[in-house]
Amino acid sequence: MSAPLIDPFARAITYLRVSVTDRCDFRCVYCMAENMTFLPKKELLTLEELDRLCSTFVGLGVEKLRITGGEPLVRRDILTFFRSMSRHLDSGALKELTLTTNGSQLERYAKDLYAAGVRRINVSLDTLDEEKFARVTRWGRLPQVLRGLDAAQAAGLRVKLNAVALKGFNEDELLTLTEFCAARDMDLTWIEVMPMGDLGNEDRIGQYWSLKDLRADLSQHYTLIDLAERSGGPARYVQLQETGQKIGFITPLTHNFCESCNRVRITCTGEIYMCLGQEDVADLRAPLRASPDDNALLEQAIREAIALKPKGHDFDYSRQRADGQVSRHMSHTGG
Ligand code: GTP
Ligand code: 5AD
Ligand code: SF4
Repeated sequence: MSAPLIDPFARAITYLRVSVTDRCDFRCVYCMAENMTFLPKKELLTLEELDRLCSTFVGLGVEKLRITGGEPLVRRDILTFFRSMSRHLDSGALKELTLTTNGSQLERYAKDLYAAGVRRINVSLDTLDEEKFARVTRWGRLPQVLRGLDAAQAAGLRVKLNAVALKGFNEDELLTLTEFCAARDMDLTWIEVMPMGDLGNEDRIGQYWSLKDLRADLSQHYTLIDLAERSGGPARYVQLQETGQKIGFITPLTHNFCESCNRVRITCTGEIYMCLGQEDVADLRAPLRASPDDNALLEQAIREAIALKPKGHDFDYSRQRADGQVSRHMSHTGG
């Protein structure tokens, strides 16, 4: 294997998040505008190109590959890509092949994902109320996602729910979501809403429910035991003594976790973003296409990009403004 990828702050890059499409069948209010203009299909990297790009990263020491979007399962033929990537699991180079999904297509794909070597998935679900679900996703149908969760668990996939903490929206569901996950043996991770995308009329500060407050609310009902373990992502976990379940907290606003950042993101057009909360970007599509039979150029472009990785994001609401806002939508890089 070539020398591993180390960024300017001595962080090893071992986690690659790959957005395989910018499209999604939902339009979550904090993620996308209602009327999105999606990329023409011809702009996308082909699945073969994505394969080569990801495989190059695996050769450079990436051990965890998370497929994202948009909604990754709306990309045509996506299973072919998962099946192909599973060769890196078989060889032992890759430790985890996984995805973050809105769950809408899981009923159809769960079994095949398991067969392709996926063992653990993250499903975004902010509410268990049908009407609220339709509102936050703009038109999504909750029963379809719940059937997807059933299918995933029946197929043997370990499921973690991601819920964005939203003031005045799901504060009243803290206990119902906790109990739902306990009953189904699913982990739950809460995420602080980040100031990304064209906010339009969106009031991120008004929506912001700090996980410090959420944690305090939760501790009124359960005994929280801090866990040292990390999943290779930004979440910190507690265990609820009464139920034994794990609850994660992703706190870009109240507690910055960038010092242990281990990841970069690739978009469906072959750009590499060095940080979710910064604009630093480099193009990998040109070097990918310039040398179809030789990875040297591509590897060099990847190393040059990693050398530009910033120290961390600048998201901050403390001055009652959405400071550090990033204009691209979260869906562009898949969170
Ligand atoms: P695990 O492997 O289960 O730990 O997953 P993960 O947390 O790495 O992945 P997931 O896609 O579930 O991430 C959940 C959300 O956390 C993302 O969509 C982002 O909103 C947020 N997140 C993940 N990585 C970063 C990061 O590097 N910086 C910031 N600010 N937020 C992140
Ligand atoms: N802030 C925090 N999380 C977000 N997500 C999308 N947009 C935002 C935002 N502005 C989350 C989704 C999903 C993951 C891909 O990113 O809910 O869990
Ligand atoms: Fe789609 Fe996920 Fe964004 Fe919602 S958060 S619009 S489900 S990509």
